[in-house]
Amino acid sequence: MTPSSPASTRRTRVLIPGERPVPDDFYAERAGTEAREPLNKTAFRQAERKYKTPDAPLAEALDFGTGTDCDARSSHDEIVRIGTWTRTDGSERPVYGVSGVDGFIYVPQALTEDEQLHFATQSFVVYPRKPNASNLDAHYELPDEGMFPHVMAGESMTIRHRTDGRTELITADAIESRLIRKMRWVTLGYQYNWTTKEYNFDRVDEGAHFPTDLFSWTRQAVEKLGFGSDYRPEAGIVNYYQPDDTLTGHVDRSERNMTAPLVSISIGRSAIFLLGGRSRDDEPVRAIIVRSGDLSILSGPSRHFFHGVPRILPEHPAFLHPAAQQHDSQLNGVLTLMQNCRININVRQVT
Ligand code: OGA
Ligand code: MN
Repeated sequence: MTPSSPASTRRTRVLIPGERPVPDDFYAERAGTEAREPLNKTAFRQAERKYKTPDAPLAEALDFGTGTDCDARSSHDEIVRIGTWTRTDGSERPVYGVSGVDGFIYVPQALTEDEQLHFATQSFVVYPRKPNASNLDAHYELPDEGMFPHVMAGESMTIRHRTDGRTELITADAIESRLIRKMRWVTLGYQYNWTTKEYNFDRVDEGAHFPTDLFSWTRQAVEKLGFGSDYRPEAGIVNYYQPDDTLTGHVDRSERNMTAPLVSISIGRSAIFLLGGRSRDDEPVRAIIVRSGDLSILSGPSRHFFHGVPRILPEHPAFLHPAAQQHDSQLNGVLTLMQNCRININVRQVT
C-alpha cells in the first residue's frame, strides 16, 4: 500500500458562487435527516469515527488480499474459504465468507482488468446518460448525451441551472472540475427517489432499462455463487467517490424483495467498508479493505446489516494509470477521470 499523500487526503473543494456544496458524506444528502440524527454513541458510529482518520488501524481490518489464498487467511482467522470463482479469463480466485456473518460473500479480484476497464468506461460514458438520474440533476439540466463526449472533444457545453433557469456555457476543462468530479451517484434501471425512498416503477416503460452488460455480468456472478438463475438485476447505483467522500452507515431497505442478494463491485481506489449488524448498536462492526476488482455480496441475514464506507484509501492499481498501457483516447480520458476516484456499482433485484 502506498503511503497517504497530503495532497490526496486534504483535497479542498472549489466552490462556484451560488453553487451548493456537495456534502462530503453523500449518503447524508441521499438519506435526508435520518443520517444526521445524533447517533454518536452507537457501535457503528464509533467504528466510522475510528476508520475515518488517516491513522485508522488498517491492520485490524479484514483483508481478503488480491487473489492468492494465503494472503487472506493469514490476515484474520474469521475469514473462511467457501469456494472457487472462475473469472471470465479462465483464472481462478478464492471465494470467502466471514464466520459469524451469514450470507456475506467476498471474491477478491473477481473482475479481470478488462472488465474493470469496461465498467469504469461505462460509468463515465454510458451510465450517466438520460434517462438515468444523477445527483447533478437537482442543480442542472444536462444534455442527453452526457458530459463525457464534450470533455473528450475539448468543446464547451451548455447547461441550464434549475434554480433560476439561466443557461451557462461551460468550457471543457470546467466540465471536468465542476461537473464530472461532483457527480456522486447515478441510478440505473428502476430509478430510486432518495426523498420518498421508493423506486419508480414507471420508468422502465420509458426506456430506463437496466444496462444489458451489467445485467448479464451480475446474473452470471450470482449464478456462479450458487444463487440460481432466476436473479433479476433491476436497479443499480453507481457511486463515484473522491478522496474525502464517505458513505454513512445504512441498510438498503427500499427493495420490495429483501431476500435477493445485493451485488457490489469496486473499481479504482481501495476503501474501508464497514459491516455491522441489524442495528447500529450491534457489535462487532467489521472493517474490510475493498479493492479494485473485488466483488461482494450481501445475502441472507447480512442483506439487512448496516454498512458504509468511512474512508477512501490512497491505493490505486497501476493498470488504471492512464500511461500504463497503449489505450485509445476514450479510455485515456476515462482513466484520467478515475485517478482519484473509487467507483462502486451495486445492483439490486427490487421486485
Ligand atoms: C450503497 C453502498 C457501498 C460501497 O450504495 O448502498 O452500500 O462500497 N455502497 O460503496
Ligand atoms: Mn448500501
